[in-house]
Amino acid sequence: MRGFIVNNAYSRLNTALNQSQRLKYEFEKLGVETDVVTSAGIISSIDDKGIPSVGKYSEKYDFCVYLDKDKYASRLLEKCGIRLFNTAEAIETCDDKMLTHIILSEHGVNMPFTVPGLLCYTPETPLNLSYLNRVEHAIGQYPIIIKECYGSLGKQVYKADNREQLLKIANCVKCKPHLFQKCVNSTIGRDVRVIAVGGNPVAAMMRKSETDFRSNIELGGTAEIYEINGEIVQLCKTVEKTLKLDYFGIDLLFAPEGFSVCEINSNAFFGGIEKVTGVNVAKAYAQHICESIKIE
Ligand SMILES: Nc1ncnc2c1ncn2[C@@H]1O[C@H](COP(=O)(O)OP(=O)(O)O)[C@@H](O)[C@H]1O
Ligand SMILES: [Mg+2]
Repeated sequence: MRGFIVNNAYSRLNTALNQSQRLKYEFEKLGVETDVVTSAGIISSIDDKGIPSVGKYSEKYDFCVYLDKDKYASRLLEKCGIRLFNTAEAIETCDDKMLTHIILSEHGVNMPFTVPGLLCYTPETPLNLSYLNRVEHAIGQYPIIIKECYGSLGKQVYKADNREQLLKIANCVKCKPHLFQKCVNSTIGRDVRVIAVGGNPVAAMMRKSETDFRSNIELGGTAEIYEINGEIVQLCKTVEKTLKLDYFGIDLLFAPEGFSVCEINSNAFFGGIEKVTGVNVAKAYAQHICESIKIE
């Protein structure tokens, strides 16, 4: 068995680069060879007869750990017969926060009240105030959370405490896919990040920020180990079944009635949670991949 691990060619984040090395090391211990490559090393194409190709990759390898989010290259790799972890479809769904909410909504998962944003095609067009009034009315309270649908590390998540802030933020994001969400006040600055492998939660940590409503570590949050309970186990099972994810991170907000699912991250970094919890996430993922390949 031989696999390759794909990193985004533009990423300079140490967390991302270390992640592939951690996985390679754990595969080695299981007797499986892997090559770490960047997305720039793969030339995927569709020829003039409509035949997809991915160079040498389809012949040489049995699986790919796809740590990038490129929806085109990932699909072409699959079309050429390579089993991707996660699958291209799962990565594409999770990359889009609104699409994730829509798909999860069919499965009785608690999530914050969410309204899709209206997409504007030209920055000079004024904000559609009648739609924004409807959003304000539907959510019914401030603060309102605004998220770009494609965002990570908390950087594209905003909070409007009043209408003036809402107008300003909505105007900034109107040309990008975005959503509006009820702010879960009971969670402000706190959430639980869980990592699940094969639908089973393997590690969980509570993240806290004293200075920001977002608890992301990258924005100054701190983390401590969190005990996995039955509610978390059940949520992870539902998410795995619905989105067909081999591996994911899930952010859970503390809502009055229990956990509320904030987002699913198909490409969640595991370096931080390994340090906080002492759980060997890379090993669990490598084992899951080897078992899946043998069965499939
Ligand atoms: N509806 C909400 N109410 C309160 N806090 C929220 C809400 N949505 C997100 N947050 C906070 O913002 C953080 C970042 O949001 P998230 O959707 O996970 O974006 P990212 O993908 O950038 O991590 C969450 O971890 C949480 O602390
Ligand atoms: Mg998050």
